[in-house]
Amino acid sequence: MISDGKLSVEQLLEFMTEEAYDFFYVQVIKNNMTIKEYAKKLSEKATIAYQLYDGNIVGLVAGYTNNLSDNCSYITQVFVSSDLRGRGIATKLLNEYFEYCVSKNINSCWLTTKKNNIASIKTYQKSGFVIDTDYESDTLYKLVKNLNVRKY
Ligand SMILES: CC(C)(COP(=O)(O)OP(=O)(O)OC[C@H]1O[C@@H](n2cnc3c(N)ncnc32)[C@H](O)[C@@H]1OP(=O)(O)O)[C@@H](O)C(=O)NCCC(=O)NCCS
Repeated sequence: MISDGKLSVEQLLEFMTEEAYDFFYVQVIKNNMTIKEYAKKLSEKATIAYQLYDGNIVGLVAGYTNNLSDNCSYITQVFVSSDLRGRGIATKLLNEYFEYCVSKNINSCWLTTKKNNIASIKTYQKSGFVIDTDYESDTLYKLVKNLNVRKY
């Protein structure tokens, strides 16, 4: 399911705090916000492909698809609950996110991940992301996915 600003702060907050507090906290610190403020920011500004189980979020891909200067969408969060990994949920959510981007004529997506995060690198490469070799960092890879949107 895609929520363009329609997931509630409460739903996001519950997922972030119960499933993935350490993971999301990195972004909370980077944004100099409380976790509630960060959930509000995602709820209002991000496009989120999400998976529900028993009414709770168990996975999401969140990124920005509005006011893009270069027609390239930045994906800020990809997370699947630990007990549901390896079942193709991230792949499915990434595909939903790409379809939404294509419907908005967005050309490409990009994200960064830690060089030692094998699961995420494999997941992104399987979904067609390639490592941007121009990006220089000791700890992070930048990966880019071309969406092959035709220009007429
Ligand atoms: C990365 C993450 C989102 C993948 O979610 P997932 O739903 O398990 O991914 P999928 O089931 O769609 O797997 C996609 C591919 O990646 C590979 N993969 C996934 N986890 C892997 C692992 N731990 N080791 C090796 N390969 C792995 C699989 O080979 C799979 O391909 P396959 O179907 O051909 O076997 C999940 O591990 C996660 O939430 N990790 C913690 C948060 C995180 O690190 N997010 C990314 C930050 S940039």
